[in-house]
Amino acid sequence: MYRKTMRKILVTGATGQIGSELTLALRDKFGGENVVAAGHRRPPSDKLLNTGPFVYLDATDKKTLDKIVEEYDIDTIYHLAAVLSVVGEKDPQNAWRVNMESLYNVLEIAREKNLTRVFWPSSIAVFGPETPRVKTPQNTILIPRTIYGVSKAAGELLCNYYFHRFGVDVRSVRYPGIISSETPPGGGVTDYAVEIFYEAIKHKRYTCFLKADAVLPMMYMPDCINAALKIMEADPSRIKCRTSYNVTAMSFSPAELAAEIKRHIPDFVCEYKPDFRQQIADSWPMTIDDSAAREDWGWRPEYDLAAMVKDMIEKLSKRFVEGRL
Ligand code: SER
Repeated sequence: MYRKTMRKILVTGATGQIGSELTLALRDKFGGENVVAAGHRRPPSDKLLNTGPFVYLDATDKKTLDKIVEEYDIDTIYHLAAVLSVVGEKDPQNAWRVNMESLYNVLEIAREKNLTRVFWPSSIAVFGPETPRVKTPQNTILIPRTIYGVSKAAGELLCNYYFHRFGVDVRSVRYPGIISSETPPGGGVTDYAVEIFYEAIKHKRYTCFLKADAVLPMMYMPDCINAALKIMEADPSRIKCRTSYNVTAMSFSPAELAAEIKRHIPDFVCEYKPDFRQQIADSWPMTIDDSAAREDWGWRPEYDLAAMVKDMIEKLSKRFVEGRL
């Protein structure tokens, strides 16, 4: 069968936390004109606008998605658009609609147009209180309590179905909390681990909405991007799991993160006022077993807690001094 070697990529959710940086990494690798950024909720950054095509797209609108795929001759989609856990609980009906309809549209278009590959991120939110919370295995109990987690668990099954039934080469990883310095996250439980840096640098104080000892799995953005690029580059024979792979880089509690920040900003003070988000954190794993991803396609993170904190503080402090924080 004829397969284009040249990649023409579409990134949905390109203005979001992961999309804004993943799009730029893909443009570096494949050339700016070959990576179409799509978004509609947040305004695109100048960098995103100046380095390649940008289109307005609500991925629940299949007609427009279809048109963009045709117009730009897209063969690969990174489908990142989604409603996250905390925002999802405010309007569960909308979260289900957005997350499921958009994934269904992407998979259907991949089937109809015989696209080369699809990347779709799942999350640690697929796990629930019945799941073992320490070294959570690859194949385990998935009974999530948030609508976000429900949509990710259902989405994993849909991806697996489209691979086995229609041969759609869709690949996925279960991201832990993602920490980034460029674009803030869009309303999840793990957002505290980003907010804390902004507050520490600007005000030397932060009030955390989770308990001091609420350990969660996390990952720094360069590793998050690497995971997506690496699984998408792997030979199809190496992708043995077609639901979604566990991946992790580190696990820490808010108190451990605050202590590491204090090593750089000694007068930083962190207080704790847990709210409803603590209940969601309690239902998620503390540590993740990602040995399947390591063995199958060579996953290996680079950043641990100390390296991530040092880099975040360097990047954000520079922006603060320049008046851009
Ligand atoms: N960071 C996400 C959230 O907290 C987890 O996938 O919702």
